[in-house]
Amino acid sequence: MENNIIKIAIFASGNGSNFEALAKHFEKLHDYKIEILIYDKKDAFVIERSKKFNIESKYIDYSFGKDSAEDQIIEILKDKNINIVFLAGFMRILSKKIIEIGIPIINIHPSLLPKYKGINSIERAYNSDDERIGVTIHYVNEGVDEGEIIAQESIRLDKSKSLDEIESEIHKIEHKIYPITAEILCSNLIN
Ligand code: GRF
Repeated sequence: MENNIIKIAIFASGNGSNFEALAKHFEKLHDYKIEILIYDKKDAFVIERSKKFNIESKYIDYSFGKDSAEDQIIEILKDKNINIVFLAGFMRILSKKIIEIGIPIINIHPSLLPKYKGINSIERAYNSDDERIGVTIHYVNEGVDEGEIIAQESIRLDKSKSLDEIESEIHKIEHKIYPITAEILCSNLIN
């Protein structure tokens, strides 16, 4: 690692509220820096958030195929000497060549994995008979929402609340646990 600063890349596709939670957290810390936002949707709101935090962003065009898109991503990670990657609503499955590059890649998912992998997880959990629902942070592998679990936080599923209310509670948990967990993972790279 260069100058003892841990360099972070965040990949996102959409709204970017988790990106913002991470950006807010890391801007206060001197040992870590979010170097770049990588995004794959030209109109993603996350771009506005990256501007607000003065974080460089790079659009990756997947329309020429996953292989060339991933080659571009790998080039950026190498050029910028990225030490760790956090996915924050990145709607792509990464292939082996990125996963095995030797940089930890972490994702956040709005369910208590292994339950409700994939999309509409909060709604599926809300419609279940589960007593508790929550959020998982995990390492990324070639599967969908499948890698080793790093952290989970849960709440009781209160059906007297609306789906919207539950969704916002889940997102609040995400915005709390992702930055804290991310900082611990980054600090482990120094020690
Ligand atoms: C979050 O719920 C995250 O857990 C999931 O995608 C959503 C992204 O939301 N992987 P945002 O773009 O961070 O607001």
